[in-house]
Amino acid sequence: PPITLIGVPMEEGSGRRGAAMGPAALRIAGIDTALQDLGYAVTDNGDIRPVPARDLPALRNALNLQMVGAFVRELEAKTYEVASKGGLPIILGGDHALSMGSVAGMARHAAEVGRPLFVLWLDAHADFNSPETSPSGNMHGMPVAHFCGRAEFAPIFPADRPFVEPSHVYQLGIRSVDPQERELVRDNGVNVFDMRAIDESGVGAIVNRIIDNVRAANGLLHVSFDVDFLDPDVAPGVGTTVPGGATFREAHLIMELLCDSGLVSSLDLVELNPFLDDRGKSARVLVEMTASLFGRRIFDRPTRAA
Ligand code: ARG
Ligand code: MN
Ligand code: MN
Ligand code: MN
Repeated sequence: PPITLIGVPMEEGSGRRGAAMGPAALRIAGIDTALQDLGYAVTDNGDIRPVPARDLPALRNALNLQMVGAFVRELEAKTYEVASKGGLPIILGGDHALSMGSVAGMARHAAEVGRPLFVLWLDAHADFNSPETSPSGNMHGMPVAHFCGRAEFAPIFPADRPFVEPSHVYQLGIRSVDPQERELVRDNGVNVFDMRAIDESGVGAIVNRIIDNVRAANGLLHVSFDVDFLDPDVAPGVGTTVPGGATFREAHLIMELLCDSGLVSSLDLVELNPFLDDRGKSARVLVEMTASLFGRRIFDRPTRAA
């Protein structure tokens, strides 16, 4: 499919400055030409630039809701529009709160075409806090709860919007979860593969199992890639580094297996903070990952039996 890049220079969900520079850094690292070199038609829609949504309340435990809500609404509409016209949206973040919008847009599209939406969440964090459980009030720690319908801060979206089934969310790379958040993740039935699971089984076996489940359900697969999924040595340009993350090779293998599956419908690249990066290193790594996800490879492999 043709690819559309949507820039989301949002940092208000993260509790610090810098992620608003993410879309620019990904463009400078050459995300468009990397995809064009693989044969894709790429349209860059530029950055969304909303004004704060004054109809939303100012809350102490969901910080910057008016600004985050405005970005999330506009991104939901853009993501839906691209997908419903047969395109593949790649969202250039921006902090992870933006996934409240990209995933909601894909959920609307999936409901319309009558297919279930699955989400592969590559992250050190579960991002399943609600305003009640969040220790920080930062909304980038809440998107999964929000698109699963478990954290309604305020009416960002119409009440009849489609939610994602928590059992259709697969989290990989998890190694930092807040105490109450852990209970929510467990009680809601999110599928969590933490770093221990990766060490014990290897990412290949885990990702192939996820792919088989998505394929069996004829699902669409949204991939949400938080920079802190990677080990800080690989990608230091992120505000919430946690040691012991995925290696360069593990992450590449995941991208290659996902590419072979042909199931990926949409992608978020989030939490890149160029202000904290080391000479563009993390931006470049994200572009490499994206290229692998969309078909760059060393040699072809025989296709894996479905
Ligand atoms: N769990 C912490 C919080 O709620 C950290 C969340 C980090 N999320 C992220 N997208 N980097 O504040
Ligand atoms: Mn995250
Ligand atoms: Mn994270
Ligand atoms: Mn199901």
